Amino acid sequence: MNPNLLNVTPELAASVATKTAAVKDLLSEVANTAAPVTFANSLGAEDMVLTDIIASTELPIEIFSLDTGRLPLETYDLMAEVDKHYGIKLKIYFPLAEEVESFVRNHGINAFYESVALRKACCYARKVEPLKRALAGKQAWITGLRVQQATTRVGLPFREYDEGNGLEKINPLSDWSEKEVWTYIKLHKVPYNALHEKFYPSIGCAPCTRAISMGEDVRAGRWWWENPDSKECGLHVKE
Ligand code: ADX
Ligand code: SF4
Repeated sequence: MNPNLLNVTPELAASVATKTAAVKDLLSEVANTAAPVTFANSLGAEDMVLTDIIASTELPIEIFSLDTGRLPLETYDLMAEVDKHYGIKLKIYFPLAEEVESFVRNHGINAFYESVALRKACCYARKVEPLKRALAGKQAWITGLRVQQATTRVGLPFREYDEGNGLEKINPLSDWSEKEVWTYIKLHKVPYNALHEKFYPSIGCAPCTRAISMGEDVRAGRWWWENPDSKECGLHVKE
């Protein structure tokens, strides 16, 4: 979505204000009851809303990003802008060199296009394994997941126990619509990824993300060659 084209009605502004207050309450409760807390920031629109809220509340919540090594240039530019705009240092995690080297030597540099299994293996090496290191020693992690993003996210609660990773998982924007996310960004002048203005509503790694056409689902540009039911990278899969 392009915030410049968004018409912020009084109803939209009011619902965003109410939901923002609820997010602040939830984050402060989590910071007080489940420390240490960390926030997984992909630099997507939802995560920029959460970054802005966390920075404005000054809650003791660490913010980390997983640099897969295949992110779009625009995402790296936004990482640098976040550091500057908010005066915070994103904690960046890289994949283990030997994992990526072995995947690429065995299967090829772009093997993720060949099968769902190889795509998931690449996501494992570049995202899931680094996530495990980012969550080690934490009691709770925060995500920008929303129910409306995907069929795989229906029924997503605000707060749940993440069995696979062994800590609490907090999804403060679970009930937000895409319009509400962009209303927040517009009203609070939040920096966002330049690709959003080029029809990229959902952004992951460069080779696995494309622009969408009018009327397409917001996640249609992610792993577009796969069936919607397999479109999760493994960060949010319940074990
Ligand atoms: S994915 O499973 O399809 O890749 P998506 O891009 O929707 O996930 O992001 C959902 C949430 O997962 C984000 O709001 C963020 O909390 C977390 N996440 C995804 N990618 C990253 C990343 N590279 N670094 C940190 N957190 C991430
Ligand atoms: Fe690999 Fe694509 Fe997954 Fe990125 S999104 S880790 S490039 S398969």
